[in-house]
Amino acid sequence: MSTRNRQWLINGNPRGRPIQLDDFREVEVELVPLASGQVRVRVDTLGFDPAQKGQLENVSGYAAGNNIGDVMPGSGIGRVIESKSERVPVGTHVLGRMGWQEVATVDAGSLQLLPDDVPATAWLGPLGTTGLTAYFGLLKVGVPEPGDTVVVSGAAGAVGSMVGQIAKLMGCRTIGIAGGEAKCAWLVDEVGYDAAIDYKNEPIKPRLKELCRDGINVYFDNVGGPALNDVLARIANHARVVVCGGIARYEQATLPDGPANYFNIVFRQARMEGFLLRGYEAEYEVARARLRAWIDSGDIVYREDIQQGFDNIPKTLLRLFSGENFGKQLLKL
Ligand SMILES: NC(=O)c1ccc[n+]([C@@H]2O[C@H](COP(=O)([O-])OP(=O)(O)OC[C@H]3O[C@@H](n4cnc5c(N)ncnc54)[C@H](OP(=O)(O)O)[C@@H]3O)[C@@H](O)[C@H]2O)c1
Repeated sequence: MSTRNRQWLINGNPRGRPIQLDDFREVEVELVPLASGQVRVRVDTLGFDPAQKGQLENVSGYAAGNNIGDVMPGSGIGRVIESKSERVPVGTHVLGRMGWQEVATVDAGSLQLLPDDVPATAWLGPLGTTGLTAYFGLLKVGVPEPGDTVVVSGAAGAVGSMVGQIAKLMGCRTIGIAGGEAKCAWLVDEVGYDAAIDYKNEPIKPRLKELCRDGINVYFDNVGGPALNDVLARIANHARVVVCGGIARYEQATLPDGPANYFNIVFRQARMEGFLLRGYEAEYEVARARLRAWIDSGDIVYREDIQQGFDNIPKTLLRLFSGENFGKQLLKL
């Protein structure tokens, strides 16, 4: 067995600007001996999330900070190749905070052991933080009622595509906002959204007026920016605006002005509320069981965008910010 390990380290802080490839540096290091309770995992697949930009920016809060020279953090799945833990023997399939490296040395207690009866990558997407974020954000913060009109931004993304399907299962009408013809066609033809708005090729405001005559009851926002302002103009009485993410601002140098239409929250007696997935940890198991049942029955479909190769790891993160990813962004090492 090789005792060498290739890693991508943090090499720059992209705060207030787009991530660049030289924000990462490749190194090759010698593996250190395992301590008691640790295991060595051959990383097979990494998952990507826009919040990783926050992890590069040395901030605390939503995405806890890191330092220049640290291995870039990231979730992944892999097989245990060496173990000093009785709980996690060699050969076990695991999910955890692997980081951007070929071989991760981790505490066995931090790993989730994966069953072999669903494709392992599902644990990075619909059964992982992606699916859970959609589930809790929509059901606990959005509180959809049958007959509600639910609008979702970033709708063709990993979280957004799940939100639309859960909302449909709750008896809602769903409208997705996404960039490009192919993503919008997929939303309506395969994901089951009732309608899609291609924000890159048509203005959002008149389309919302046409599609949401009685107003918007729930807005699940992954994006912020101008779309949020357009939606606020059309919210229904007692609407719920769920702030999940704000990718439109993740690369900006200065904080954007607040949405001009925010006062409609007063007129419509509406609620706008942010959430963090980790606030619902105690309920993960129940949520996973429901998501699993919906996936097994075919009520929820999901799409993966799988890039290949250790060398392409940094480039793959950039795809989330250009909108090149189509479904949950993954990379097979
Ligand atoms: N609150 C929480 O606990 C929590 C947990 C996990 C994730 N999140 C947030 O959930 C959101 C979705 O995450 P994800 O993993 O599902 O990513 P994703 O939607 O699969 O990928 C990001 C998508 O954002 C869109 N985008 C990129 N730049 C944009 C811009 N300037 N304006 C508008 N759209 C833009 C692109 O789609 P188009 O091609 O359609 O533009 C891109 O495909 C992120 O904001 C993330 O930070 C929050």
